[in-house]
Amino acid sequence: MSTNLGAGRPPRRIIVGVGAGIAVYKVPAVVRHFVKAGDSVRVMPTEASLNFVGKATWQALSGAPAHTGVFDEEAGVDHVEAARGADLIVIAPATADLIARIHAGLAGDLLTTTVLASTAPVLLVPAMHTAMWNNPATKHNVEQLRARGIHILEPVSGDLSSGDKGAGRMPEPEAIWQRAEEILAAGQNGPVRDLEGVKAFVTAGGTREPIDPVRFVGNHSSGRQGAAIAQALVERGAEVTLFSANVDDRLIPAGVRVVETPSALQMHQAVLEAAPEHDMGFFVAAVADFRPAKTATKKVKKSAANEDGWSLEMVRNPDILAETAKAFPGLLCVGFAAETGSDEEILEFGRAKARSKGAKYIAINRVGGGLGFGTLDNQVVVVDGEGNEVLSTSGSKLEVARAIVALASGHSETQNR
Ligand code: C5P
Repeated sequence: MSTNLGAGRPPRRIIVGVGAGIAVYKVPAVVRHFVKAGDSVRVMPTEASLNFVGKATWQALSGAPAHTGVFDEEAGVDHVEAARGADLIVIAPATADLIARIHAGLAGDLLTTTVLASTAPVLLVPAMHTAMWNNPATKHNVEQLRARGIHILEPVSGDLSSGDKGAGRMPEPEAIWQRAEEILAAGQNGPVRDLEGVKAFVTAGGTREPIDPVRFVGNHSSGRQGAAIAQALVERGAEVTLFSANVDDRLIPAGVRVVETPSALQMHQAVLEAAPEHDMGFFVAAVADFRPAKTATKKVKKSAANEDGWSLEMVRNPDILAETAKAFPGLLCVGFAAETGSDEEILEFGRAKARSKGAKYIAINRVGGGLGFGTLDNQVVVVDGEGNEVLSTSGSKLEVARAIVALASGHSETQNR
């Protein structure tokens, strides 16, 4: 075919990454589609994929060198440029190994280095045996990549090269380029990267106030909302530190620096120390208002109680948000408040908190009725420091986090009420 589908528009820069799977035989048709459309195509095969289709084929089809390693001739200098300039990266077939490497942010070859260095939309087209596709490790990696904004064209069910039948088969080339064209047409350049160079911290989880070496006073906060805020910040390019109060490591997104701050006093000290180096602070942790006046060095025995019971003297904890906002007026502070009550009551509590804490924004989270602590869905109203309602949003914790981070970075994408 000689039709130039792209006549009249500048060539798009497409990177086609090729993994080592038998489905690679379908990929030349994808490359040809873009070449015929007048686009500039660079094929980046993994070394192992050359066992299926060699460099000569890719170079002949794309008219460009098909390097595998960062240190290949010329490639050492131009991969960052290729990554920066790309309009789309299509990876087909995306093997379980390649998916895991991209998920982990590894950069051991030219393709993974390019993915890591690029802000272009990425379309992954997984293909593998059903057992590998259904393995929890692959499922987890795919889920996480999807949450990071990477497009996934799911494998279809059918005959596999092993002779088995099941999900894992790569879709046909037409389906791949159609999806690629949709992504290009939507002009989706992935999440807005407007926080590059910005340093943000997030407090997350629930503090544990030690009574003795084995007991503490704690709360039910899971740290999910804080972890979601950290993820939304990373997606927009921020450098993120998470002050974790007992957050399960599995909830924390890749690319986030974690500082363990299990109690209010530890968090207080760490946040105040770090604040001057940061541009934004998100105070999502449920910090205990009080802590035991004394922490016993040895386990408190039952014999410490009298007949009526045992009482514990509690003293006030510092308010980390209020202190930080006051001490560092240049830091953009976003606080969170979990409230119960009617809509009006909740808003009123939040407004009072916004004024008293000196934060730029307070996100008021309705708890109870299946929303809030430990649950997946959230309903949040955001008020500014004067108590004006500026955003109302609901959805998964990640959706809510994205809306709040967008607002904080001056790009509210969610409907203002
Ligand atoms: O006063 P309240 O605990 O409802 O305020 C919640 C907000 O203040 C949250 O952003 C929370 O992380 C922050 N906070 C804090 N230090 C405290 C108590 C709350 O940073 N001691």
